Amino acid sequence: MRTIVERHGGRLDKLAGAAAMAVFGVPHVREDDALRALRAATEIRDALAAAEPSMGAGSRCRIGVNTGLVLVGGADELAVGDAVSLAARLGEAAAPGEILVGAETLRLVGDAARCEPLEALRLRGVAEPVAAFRVVDLDRLASGAARRLHGPFVGRERELGWLRDAWHRSVQEPGCQLVTLLGAAGVGKSRLVAEVLAGIGQDALALSGRCLPYGDGITFWPLLEALAPVARAADRVLEWLESGSALIAEELFLEIRRLLESLAETGR
Ligand SMILES: Nc1ncnc2c1ncn2[C@@H]1O[C@H](COP(=O)(O)OP(=O)(O)OP(=O)(O)O)[C@@H](O)[C@H]1O
Ligand SMILES: [Mg+2]
Repeated sequence: MRTIVERHGGRLDKLAGAAAMAVFGVPHVREDDALRALRAATEIRDALAAAEPSMGAGSRCRIGVNTGLVLVGGADELAVGDAVSLAARLGEAAAPGEILVGAETLRLVGDAARCEPLEALRLRGVAEPVAAFRVVDLDRLASGAARRLHGPFVGRERELGWLRDAWHRSVQEPGCQLVTLLGAAGVGKSRLVAEVLAGIGQDALALSGRCLPYGDGITFWPLLEALAPVARAADRVLEWLESGSALIAEELFLEIRRLLESLAETGR
């Protein structure tokens, strides 16, 4: 459990009897702490389920994940508060193999998790019934709340002009155009790119890859994501990217260049 929790950036805080508690966001808060906690929870559940043949049904764990304000302090940075006890209560209310989450956690994990509401729980020591949700499915690669990019597009004529200009130059002249779009979170970078792509989508093949915020062996992930849709032509490249096997970077990049060149022969 410790290995899994720490891989997701959390800390195993307490181990008592058959119960364990992990904390995410102490001492430093991240925007995806709730999602990290839920990823760790599903991994722990799956790892313990895999141990069932040797350990028996007792290895099926019950997990509660909750988010809220806590009091933190002391040398061991203990987290104390209602949010913590509620997590424990959710865990107690879960059936073996089940993960229950509170309302705030559900809100923060956004579209990455599919959850079904349970009847509000009446928990001892808590006056009001507490909303609880059962995790049905978790998309391990999803990045929380998905942005809606469908509303009417407003302004940005100048930026659109720059990007379309770069596109036309890359069609007319030899060589590549590299554009870096830099801006505050939520200012409209992805939307701008989507708008440009929508304009040239018929004329070109667009490949996209994104960097994951954390994880092992993810250096080449954006390339893998971008090239997977054209995998048939790229078997060797994909194999190299996936395995991260001992390879010379130059060799890999040369292969990728060849692949892109061969794609460019059949279309933009
Ligand atoms: N020019 C625009 N007209 C209409 N809506 C816009 C425009 N720019 C952004 N939006 C909307 O604002 C929201 C945030 O935009 P977007 O996801 O593109 O931001 P971002 O800069 O990529 O954010 P992040 O840094 O978090 O990736 C989206 O719902 C998007 O549809
Ligand atoms: Mg974006």
